Amino acid sequence: MDIFRKKDVGEILKHSTPLKRTLRTWDLTFLGIGAIIGTGIFVLTGKGALTAGPAISVSFLVAAICCGFAGLCYAEFASMAPVAGSAYTYSYIAFGEIIAFIIGWDLILEYTLGAATVSVGWSGYFANLLGNLGIHIPTVLTAAAGTTAGVTSYFNLPAFLIVLLITWIISIGITQTKRANDTMVIVKLAVILLFIVCTIWFIKPHNWQPFSPYGLYSFHNGTAAGIIPAASIVFFSFIGFDSVSSSAEETINPSKTLPRGILLSLFISTVLYIIMTLIMTGVVKFTVFAKYLNAPVLAVLHSTGQTWLSIIVSIGAILGITTVILVQLYGQSRISYSMSRDGLFPKFFGDVNMKYQTPFKGTWFFGIITAIAGGLINLNILAELVNIGTLTAFILVSAGVLWMRHSHPEVHRGFKAPGVPFTPIIAIIFCLVLIAGLNWETWIRFIVWFAIGMILYFGYAKKHSKLNSFKPQDKGAD
Ligand code: ALA
Repeated sequence: MDIFRKKDVGEILKHSTPLKRTLRTWDLTFLGIGAIIGTGIFVLTGKGALTAGPAISVSFLVAAICCGFAGLCYAEFASMAPVAGSAYTYSYIAFGEIIAFIIGWDLILEYTLGAATVSVGWSGYFANLLGNLGIHIPTVLTAAAGTTAGVTSYFNLPAFLIVLLITWIISIGITQTKRANDTMVIVKLAVILLFIVCTIWFIKPHNWQPFSPYGLYSFHNGTAAGIIPAASIVFFSFIGFDSVSSSAEETINPSKTLPRGILLSLFISTVLYIIMTLIMTGVVKFTVFAKYLNAPVLAVLHSTGQTWLSIIVSIGAILGITTVILVQLYGQSRISYSMSRDGLFPKFFGDVNMKYQTPFKGTWFFGIITAIAGGLINLNILAELVNIGTLTAFILVSAGVLWMRHSHPEVHRGFKAPGVPFTPIIAIIFCLVLIAGLNWETWIRFIVWFAIGMILYFGYAKKHSKLNSFKPQDKGAD
């Protein structure tokens, strides 16, 4: 059937650019940490702690295990087709066009709304830092309408502006250089370590009692609570490690380096997340975070009286979160570019600006949508929608590994995920559990997003796909 026509791995590799292989394990690990640590730990821990209590550290572990198994599947796919386009390209090979379109559409959700979510987190710390320096942005312009109980707000101006600024940077072709990323990662890690060293002494073990007040999954005040629903929220903290797998083409010895980079960046982030959340819930009672949802880390520093440290942590969070926005907006522009190049999106998105050598119009189109979303929508609604989109992409990638092992055993894989079929099956089960932990409103929003995607596919993409110009025998049928 036309909608399942596939791209051929050999064809894709022919078009791939011969980039220089320079990246080693630690480069990839830094790249991963740069994309991973951001709003998740600096902001969502507040909501996570209210949902699971001190057991939020276990929620981080559950989300990390899910990402570890999915990460191995990503690495196998990346090593099979080490070209740009991430999961979108992989699924064009494994499953065919319609699934590739669904994944691409999912990734647009992940990156566009992901960047919007992260920008809201950025804004919280930015407003706090300015406040510490005696500069006050009018409260009505620091949050989307109706997001803070008892506070009148209309629009999140800092979130809106930071997205526009980064869109401009990407659109004129200054992408994140390795050195800039490395510096930001070092600042981010240093700030987290400083936070740990300075606050660990203030833990009062009685704050950890009861450790898991809502158990694995329960209902509290009409909403889902417990370790699993919190894991479904803080899953956001790990998004970004997939960017490591997109560097397959620039990696020395990818079969060893890629999985190491993915697993190491996940491992380091997980250890830091678990230590940080144990400290946060140990220093203050988890219920205190209800008042600090924008910047929960500051709840701890206010309680220990370390105002000087809250300024340093705010600067670290602002810089650290900036790299995450950059990676996401960059990923966004490249996915819509790849889809446009394949004919699944209008030419507008693939138009490369002669002067800047970037997909300028597409970058601005999505940049403006992202900025408006960051200005108008609540952080938790955004984050949960991003999570369901990403979890769906993980399921498809993991299923893709199973399917490709069965249907194309002959294709060369620079890296083979260990323990197949169990690794992808475990990844899929964990993803389904985390999707189940999200609330039903998120499922409905995702279904609406999916339906819009299907209208676009059947109304536009299917007719304009570049694969239409192949003869039937070329259509990559099995
Ligand atoms: N994992 C990234 C963050 O937490 C998206 O900001």
